[in-house]
Amino acid sequence: MKTHFPVDRMRAEATPFYYYDMELLDATIKAIRQYSDYPDFQVHYAVKANSNPEILRRIAASGLGADTVSIGEVKAALDAGFSAAKTVFAGVGKTDEEIAAALEYGIGCFNVESEPELFVIESIARQMGKKAPVALRVNPEIDAHTHHYITTGIAENKFGIAMSMLRRVIDSCIKSEWIDLQGLHFHIGSQVTDLTPYKILCERINRLQEEYSDIEFASINVGGGLGVDYDNPDTNPIPDFEEFFKIFHENLKLRSGQQVHFELGRAVVAQCGSLITRVVFVKEGVDKKFVILDGGMTELIRPALYQAHHKIENLTSTSPDEERYDVVGPICESSDTFGTDELLPETKRGDLVALRSAGAYGEVMASCYNCRSLPGSRFSHRFR
Ligand code: LLP
Repeated sequence: MKTHFPVDRMRAEATPFYYYDMELLDATIKAIRQYSDYPDFQVHYAVKANSNPEILRRIAASGLGADTVSIGEVKAALDAGFSAAKTVFAGVGKTDEEIAAALEYGIGCFNVESEPELFVIESIARQMGKKAPVALRVNPEIDAHTHHYITTGIAENKFGIAMSMLRRVIDSCIKSEWIDLQGLHFHIGSQVTDLTPYKILCERINRLQEEYSDIEFASINVGGGLGVDYDNPDTNPIPDFEEFFKIFHENLKLRSGQQVHFELGRAVVAQCGSLITRVVFVKEGVDKKFVILDGGMTELIRPALYQAHHKIENLTSTSPDEERYDVVGPICESSDTFGTDELLPETKRGDLVALRSAGAYGEVMASCYNCRSLPGSRFSHRFR
């Protein structure tokens, strides 16, 4: 399913902007629903990946739950139509105000990341006279082999509770009349492309379930992290959900009636979004040619922050000749570079250039650095 860019319409638009292929988003959601259709599997969308209201509404309408990390995200999810009961609230630094508001909304579960957080949730729940549903985030000590900024499951880490401390925290939950311990939560990292770490996660969870056979867990939340193919968005527009969900189905030893929760972000929205920019100048350097775009790290920070590479596509050049270019943004930072020695058709001032696979952690991470305006968004179904 190749994204079609309505280039003639796009030429008339002010750039840079995010373009979302809603047919691809729908097909992705459909695949998720199809391949996660095992009894007791419940998929939540990780709102942090993209909280554009239009995107959220589309995902909410499909019946997925929401995984949130701030009260702002909780509100955005509820506004878009996600049910409070299917909304989980994670994050290492929930403030008292956020905890109280989430209890008031009646969210489905707090993913608790530390012992001090549990005590604060307990005391706020007590004051409000509301029992707080919690899942404990356990650090499973698994290396997801991804970028070190987005690896989260290894031993000492700001996320989650160490396995060695788990018994103590579980005991605190059991003792409290204001805490309803629902289950355990895990997340090994993001942009995971080799699925072996998920098998290891299943084994780790099975061992923990044996170790804690005396404790009731209604749900096991295995987090998110499934990666996408940034190099070939047109050949692999939809991640291999079949294989992903099958791993959990085949390897997790669930207790009877136990639910499995997933929190997928990137895999849901990355491929449907592109950042559309315009070439401001083509500059001849000493040995190199530079394509300078009107969009940069303020609109799409992933290359500057994680050395990520997004496929770069000149949407308007009709030239049969190809050349090598460094493709850069306009921001006053050397890291504001999308690609070096990129092979592109001959590129000219005014050409439209798409940065592909930018639907996840693109628009949401945009900033106003250099007093720039935030990018707008356009949707395929309104572009006809
Ligand atoms: N659950 C938890 C607890 C998480 O921390 C995350 C992502 C997710 C689920 C969703 O992960 P996903 O399915 O999207 O991989 N800005 C970075 C990625 C940060 C991921 C943070 N946590 C990037 O652009 O690569």
